Amino acid sequence: MLPGNARRSPRVAAAARLREAAGAPLHVAIIMDGSGRWAAARGRPRLDGHRAGADVVRRVVAAAPKFGIATLTLFAFSSDNWKRPRVEVESLMALVRDFLFDFKRSAVAAGVRIDVVGRRDRLSADLLAAIETAEFETRNAHSLHLRLAVDYSARDAILRAARRCAHETSHEREDFMRALAEVCHASTPSPDVDLLIRTGGEKRLSDFLLWECAYAELYFTTRMWPEFDVRDLRSAVDEYHARERRFGCLPDARV
Ligand code: IPE
Ligand code: IPE
Ligand code: MG
Repeated sequence: MLPGNARRSPRVAAAARLREAAGAPLHVAIIMDGSGRWAAARGRPRLDGHRAGADVVRRVVAAAPKFGIATLTLFAFSSDNWKRPRVEVESLMALVRDFLFDFKRSAVAAGVRIDVVGRRDRLSADLLAAIETAEFETRNAHSLHLRLAVDYSARDAILRAARRCAHETSHEREDFMRALAEVCHASTPSPDVDLLIRTGGEKRLSDFLLWECAYAELYFTTRMWPEFDVRDLRSAVDEYHARERRFGCLPDARV
């Protein structure tokens, strides 16, 4: 989290930032990868893996607040995923639509506010309607902010936000973060990511939250997304808490 008072000395601000980071609610972001390979390894169509992955999303969302997670951003469909075969793209889009449609009622009951982040101009009308309904019906929920990234590219978002800010007189980071939220249709600016988890064994970001992950702790696991469970989430969060975040300072900035 950014230090709130710009007039503090850099050292005092850094110490405050370290203290805040130690006890603050977490923003966890997950690159939910490996669903296709998980299904293929079982001789099943890739779509079975994506379906199984949607069940994991429900379990992870339900568990997240217990681990101190206030914001959870899940990568559901990247802007580069449009390059996949049409049948897979259509199935994924239908899965997101059905997930939003089914999940919104339990989201309200569980206090989960849903935001879908990314481009909207290439989404179908039925998916757009599902997004808008889910966002509207969950807008007053406060236990967890669930951000689903759909048709999301961090580089595109940064480029569009930069264009939007180019003629502004203020060049504060907060202004840019507001612009980033606007171009992604997010209701509020994203807090910095504290912990980035990627399942499926790859060790890359694949154009996800490049700005927001500036100081994220990275956690890569070979577990495929459909086999990721609440114990895996606990392990990731436990490892996060065992790490020392420094934000460029020396450890003695704490005192
Ligand atoms: C991630 O799983 C989900 C999406 C990209 C939509 P993949 O579909 O990439 O699964 P693998 O990596 O091929 O196993
Ligand atoms: C990243 O996974 C996108 C999502 C999880 C939605 P990909 O499978 O598309 O990423 P690459 O192609 O392995 O980098
Ligand atoms: Mg993949």
